[in-house]
Amino acid sequence: MYGAEVEADARGFYERMRREHGPVAPVLLPGDIPAWLVTGHSEILEVVRTPSKYSRDSRRWNAFQQGLVAPDSPLMPMLAWQPLCVFADGGDHQRLRGAVTRGLDRFDRRGVRRYVTRYADQLVDGFCQKGEADLIGQFSEHLPMLVMTQLFGMPDEAGPQLVNALRDLMKGTETALASNAYVVEVLSKLVADRRRTPRQDLPSWLLLDEAELTDEEVVEHLRLILVAANETTVNLIANVLRVVLTDPAFRRSLAGGQLQLPDALEMVLWDDPPLAVVPGRWAVNPTRLGEVDIHEGDLLMLALGAGNVDPRVRPDVTASVAGNRAHLAFSGGPHECPGADVGRAIAETGIDVLLARLPDLQLSVPEGELRWTSSWLARHLAELPVDFTPVLPKPAPAAATPSAYPQSPQQAPATPYPAYDPASAPFSSGAVSAPAVGGPTRRVPWWRRLLSLLQR
Ligand code: HEM
Repeated sequence: MYGAEVEADARGFYERMRREHGPVAPVLLPGDIPAWLVTGHSEILEVVRTPSKYSRDSRRWNAFQQGLVAPDSPLMPMLAWQPLCVFADGGDHQRLRGAVTRGLDRFDRRGVRRYVTRYADQLVDGFCQKGEADLIGQFSEHLPMLVMTQLFGMPDEAGPQLVNALRDLMKGTETALASNAYVVEVLSKLVADRRRTPRQDLPSWLLLDEAELTDEEVVEHLRLILVAANETTVNLIANVLRVVLTDPAFRRSLAGGQLQLPDALEMVLWDDPPLAVVPGRWAVNPTRLGEVDIHEGDLLMLALGAGNVDPRVRPDVTASVAGNRAHLAFSGGPHECPGADVGRAIAETGIDVLLARLPDLQLSVPEGELRWTSSWLARHLAELPVDFTPVLPKPAPAAATPSAYPQSPQQAPATPYPAYDPASAPFSSGAVSAPAVGGPTRRVPWWRRLLSLLQR
């Protein structure tokens, strides 16, 4: 599952595995480490829904136990165990994840949508007079993170700096470590503030939750949420916009009302899920899946994108899936994405605002010239250049910032947030361990950056 074939056409590779081996295929990961690629829809569901047989705890991996994975293996950032809900099972998982889901559930959905509208309008204002834009770099890459900083109750002035730092660390440039240190510092200050004076926001709810998370656990889970929410939602927005811009029938159905935006989103979640592969689950005991024998401690890679086009569930992939949410884009079972509603709300509302403000958007290069970056876990559009009839920015609203939740009566002044300067001494000093990410120009796969950063 590495090398030229996967990098050039990961989907083609998954389909070849399905043809040659059926729904559970033996594959080799970098370093020639064996794993199972699960491409069957029902087999993926069986794995994610049976945690007693398939654990999320990577310390069970037989390849780790046999010393097959070198400490500098590119698999380490993604698969090395960390004290996060992602790697926990049973009671530990329930405790950590329970706090996250209860926190996210407290948001008023309409309030979240108001935030999205506000930020989508601001982003469109930034380029609407120019008549051209890159919808990845100027829209979809910013929107999810701007909304998340508001759900974290951060002051407006902290938002753009945090967004810049998060984008920088996700890009894996030479300042990524300094940016990561900045993010941790900002989140630590935020958590310390909310420990003293709770408000109506996600950090406070995590701190006050019955699970009694430590401050460190709250900081780490806030960072997990930011990263997990960002790349996936950016991808979803980009994938929907690409279909809108390249498929005239799709756009006509949307404009004519035959297709609603939520249905369009689900279609894209079926055909082009933001996370194509989840790595993974580990067999608790020897077992049998599909037609193959799995050994204790074997790693299973869940190919969600391939599962979504499994011919046993979609014999005709062109047939409509409107109203059908049985796709695997958010996985399933106890680890199923807890942010699915928030991700959908950001993507749907953001796209709605964009298309309403710039109704004649069109791609400014032929579809075949769109550039992609891809890895074994996901593929991304690198840019989405468009042109449109220039329009005026929206007049500034007179009303105060809308809230996604009832405001707390006591709005104690928060600790000022540090200024973001990735080159500044405290964050770029040797206080932070050596980067596992690439140099200034090399773009490192997001999943690797994510896990390496979460590990710190
Ligand atoms: C459209 C956007 C999104 C997609 C497609 C997506 C997809 C996923 C997938 C496939 C997983 C892995 C589940 C597994 O291990 O089986 C996951 C986990 C997770 N996601 Fe999302 N996600 C999205 C948005 C979000 C958002 C907006 C948030 C937070 C607000 C979020 C928070 C998380 C967390 C905390 C986990 C770990 C859950 C656990 O291990 O219990 N995600 N997501």
